[in-house]
Amino acid sequence: MHCDPFTYVALDFSPAMHEIAAEHLGELASRVTFLTRDFREPDWANDLGMFDAVVTLQAAHETRHKRHLVPLLERARSVVAPGGVLLYADHYLTPETKLPALAPARDEQPLALERAGFVEVELRYEEGNMALWCGTNEPPRDETTTYGERQGAVNPVEQIAQRFAIHR
Ligand SMILES: C[S@@+](CC[C@H](N)C(=O)[O-])C[C@H]1O[C@@H](n2cnc3c(N)ncnc32)[C@H](O)[C@@H]1O
Repeated sequence: MHCDPFTYVALDFSPAMHEIAAEHLGELASRVTFLTRDFREPDWANDLGMFDAVVTLQAAHETRHKRHLVPLLERARSVVAPGGVLLYADHYLTPETKLPALAPARDEQPLALERAGFVEVELRYEEGNMALWCGTNEPPRDETTTYGERQGAVNPVEQIAQRFAIHR
């Protein structure tokens, strides 16, 4: 997946981490809005607008327990535009994991995306005990579309058909 965003909103609860990120980005930092938000607060996604892609890289475990993963991803989905994607990368559980409560099993990672409402969940990359998953936010179903509108109807029979909503 190619990703060259024109603008980017970066969230972190640590202003110090934002400063480090801005230093690394150099001139590109001018494209970034750095916002201080705490993912453990239920309102962290409020007033952000909608995005074509939301990325969480090695950060979801910072909610400090894997039971918080689905609610976190649900909130993330609330700011993904219809048809947009979530990219979620984090460590999964292995026998060596020091804090097992933080890390879901590998199989639980895509299930968490599906439980949060994402569709077409796919593995995009994997290295060590970290996997990158992509989920799509399904476009809303348009239940008011009429048969005629969908067919470009012009004759009388089709004009009648236009009066009957088709539920897709
Ligand atoms: C392991 S670092 C990963 C940073 C970056 N995504 C990367 O891969 O280089 C985890 C980041 O999550 C941030 N973080 C930890 N807990 C957080 C929270 N509750 N809300 C928002 N950010 C948090 C930390 O400040 C840190 O920048």
